[in-house]
Amino acid sequence: MSSTYDAIVSRYLERTKRSRELHDEAKRLLPRGVSSNFRVVDPNPIFIESAVGTTITDADGNRYTDFANAFGALLVGHAHPKIVQALEAQARRGTLHAMPHRLEVSVAKELRARFGQDQWRYCNSGTEATMHAIRLARGYTGRSKVIKFEGAYHGAHDTVLVSNKPPLRLAGLRSRPRRVSWSEGIPQESFVHTLVASFNDLKGVRALFEENPNEVACLILEPIMMNMGVTEPLPDFLPGLRALCSEFGALLIFDEVKTGVKIARGGATEYYKVTPDITVLAKAIGGGMPLAAFGASADIMEELNSLRVIHVGTYASNPITLAAAEVTLKEILTDEAYRRVFALNRRLVDGYSRLIREHGLPCYANGVGSMGTINFRKDVLRDYRDWASVDKHASQAWYLAMLNEGVIPQPPGPDEQWTVTVQHTEADIETHLKAFTRVAPLLKSL
Ligand SMILES: Cc1ncc(COP(=O)(O)O)c(C=O)c1O
Repeated sequence: MSSTYDAIVSRYLERTKRSRELHDEAKRLLPRGVSSNFRVVDPNPIFIESAVGTTITDADGNRYTDFANAFGALLVGHAHPKIVQALEAQARRGTLHAMPHRLEVSVAKELRARFGQDQWRYCNSGTEATMHAIRLARGYTGRSKVIKFEGAYHGAHDTVLVSNKPPLRLAGLRSRPRRVSWSEGIPQESFVHTLVASFNDLKGVRALFEENPNEVACLILEPIMMNMGVTEPLPDFLPGLRALCSEFGALLIFDEVKTGVKIARGGATEYYKVTPDITVLAKAIGGGMPLAAFGASADIMEELNSLRVIHVGTYASNPITLAAAEVTLKEILTDEAYRRVFALNRRLVDGYSRLIREHGLPCYANGVGSMGTINFRKDVLRDYRDWASVDKHASQAWYLAMLNEGVIPQPPGPDEQWTVTVQHTEADIETHLKAFTRVAPLLKSL
């Protein structure tokens, strides 16, 4: 570790004493002191006291301008007044029905208008929604195999907890990635049907289809790899996948848990003009409440309609969650809001690019819609093998040093990206960039 990095950590430790006490206590009760592995931060995470608008206050009384926004789930920002009002109003009418209600129809109409899929079902998390989407595809096609991309995360169920960020020594060739399970506790049989390809490699995907004739049920992907910074598809990649899926009779699933309503009103379908067979949504559609959904044509959804494929859930379409979604989609995420957010995000990405250039840092900034990041490598990322060479140490230094300056630049980890929300202002973008002006020289001397 360099003395610069040590100085960043020392300052962080100095500023977050109360958080560390809370974390020490939490470690006795919660493995690693957190409720999701993605929240592990060394030397310790900050503990949140409140999150309102664009400001997070931690247990030590530090205030941060937040660009993490709950791993991007909060395009509406924290405690948006319209969301708070909708939650209060719905809570008085009941917190859980587990029976049909008006909001289910209202939100489904909005999702259909945005994403073009005829019918929808609700879940509580992205994990649940990708699991159901894959089962639906398997039911519809009568096939078992699933193609996913190396480096991609689609939730924590067994079929897709494969080759998420595999050690390269186990991962085989870039053109033929080996399947590597991420977790103990998953029997081999659970992911034996999962096939792995490299992102942006149409040839590799074709080979998998050809080697597994009439066996591939679906191909699931994030249209932009938002679990590898912001790794964009090459121009022919998504149309190429669409054509391959049609040629080989497999369903194309867009996991739009992150891109969903955040790169365009209608997500990647609108942005890239490529239509998947099944669309999976979560995070931002719920305005901060735990909502996910999957949608498909009436023909594919006939599997659920006929009860041949099972989808159930006590908390599916929770009325409080759907009340938040209705306000989010119909009142907050307006065309005007998108214009503002996208323009602010462009300013942030451009500002970063300028400062990176001025300081001669070996990295680049990019962004799409409301999201962006610094990718800590010089050349543009195309796939997981590229991402594996990202400078994780510099990324961690950036994260902690920005927190020291009062800005949470994005969720922790070099695989993540920031979210500009409807509540951010030009002043927030300036605050962010000013903080980076102070941090950039530190990165130079790591
Ligand atoms: C692309 C993608 N799919 C699925 C998931 C899983 O969603 P959840 O955390 O709601 O289970 C995530 C979570 O980050 C994600 O980024």
